[in-house]
Amino acid sequence: MSREHLIAMAKRNLEFGKRGSVDLVDGIVRVPASHYFDADRWTAEMNAVFRRLPLTLAFSAELPNPGDYKSMEVLETPVLIARGSDGVVRAFINSCSHRGAVVVPEGTGNTRRFSCPYHAWTYDQQGELVGVLDREAFGDFDTSCMGLTRLAAFERSGIIFVALRSESVVDIDTFLSGYDEMLDHLGLASCRVVGSQAIAGPNWKVAYDGYLDLYHLPILHKNTFGPDISNKAVYDAWGPHQRASGPAKTPNPVAAPGLSQPTNEHDPSVIADWPIEKLTGGVWTIFPHVSIASFDAGGRVFMVSVLFPGSEPGTSVTVQTFLHTQPEAPGQAESIETTMAFLHHVVQNEDYYTGLRLQKALRTGAKTEVLFGRNEGGGQRFHRWVDTLIETSDGDVASLFKADLTLT
Ligand code: FES
Repeated sequence: MSREHLIAMAKRNLEFGKRGSVDLVDGIVRVPASHYFDADRWTAEMNAVFRRLPLTLAFSAELPNPGDYKSMEVLETPVLIARGSDGVVRAFINSCSHRGAVVVPEGTGNTRRFSCPYHAWTYDQQGELVGVLDREAFGDFDTSCMGLTRLAAFERSGIIFVALRSESVVDIDTFLSGYDEMLDHLGLASCRVVGSQAIAGPNWKVAYDGYLDLYHLPILHKNTFGPDISNKAVYDAWGPHQRASGPAKTPNPVAAPGLSQPTNEHDPSVIADWPIEKLTGGVWTIFPHVSIASFDAGGRVFMVSVLFPGSEPGTSVTVQTFLHTQPEAPGQAESIETTMAFLHHVVQNEDYYTGLRLQKALRTGAKTEVLFGRNEGGGQRFHRWVDTLIETSDGDVASLFKADLTLT
């Protein structure tokens, strides 16, 4: 069914392309400039969004085998993600039950046991405490309830989601709102990880605004992506998750130049035969902090940008993970390296350079509001979701996703 959905979106985009315009939302939205730098607002966003919704913290391709693990810090919380011998991915707060030490240093690896570096208490892949050094001397206690603290973890569409809570306030299917059916078509689960790089950036919403913004592409990126890209955007939404695509001949506004093109792009009947990489062009965002775009680097490679807020409102770090759809081939490594360097340059020196200066300008107070136009419906929707989540109690978050009435 979702392939039919992709085909319908492609046909609609071609019609927009022939028409030379796209559908617009009803009006301009004004967002207070302080939402980008006010400390209280930022704290509310961290609590209402990042500390309660499932976050994208890893990829199935990073932890393909039993015993694979990833240790990382997220919003100053040490997190350990591990695939058990049963194939199930679990997540924990990476803090020892003895005296709280971080058990596993940041990084990835494969192991049957996690041994704390402080006094060598050990934990298995399920997070259970299975070893206490000098147990008799230490004293008797019930180890069955002394495992690592569990976090809610889910695996969908080749993505590992973790909530920074033992119980997520919204189950993963409700959270994704059917979006995983579309994401499945990207094939991330069968990709290879071929690289990753991190880029320091501005306030997380400044950066996320950019993910959803096609209006700026031919202007800000005139020296890189080139001026030929459409600045018009078509937004499709599943709950707060959105795909941004272009109206022109190709649905991919940042199209990988090497991808095959159909011979008659204006005949809608041909679309049904389009390869999946053409049907799934565009930018796929996962609320609140992910953007997925694809490029050609010896075959299709996805750049998955995962945005992490920093320790204060004006900072963030974006981790770009590159997931390749094809097996290794001669010359491919050089192509991947070139693509990664190019995208690092574009994001750091064009997008985030602009974003960091933008937020400095906003802090002067010269402008009390920023505007999202009728052609920027994706950004409008994003800010509505953030605002509404801040106003919504834990108990009502799931119904918000199910209803999605006032936010469309
Ligand atoms: Fe981990 Fe002591 S803090 S074994």
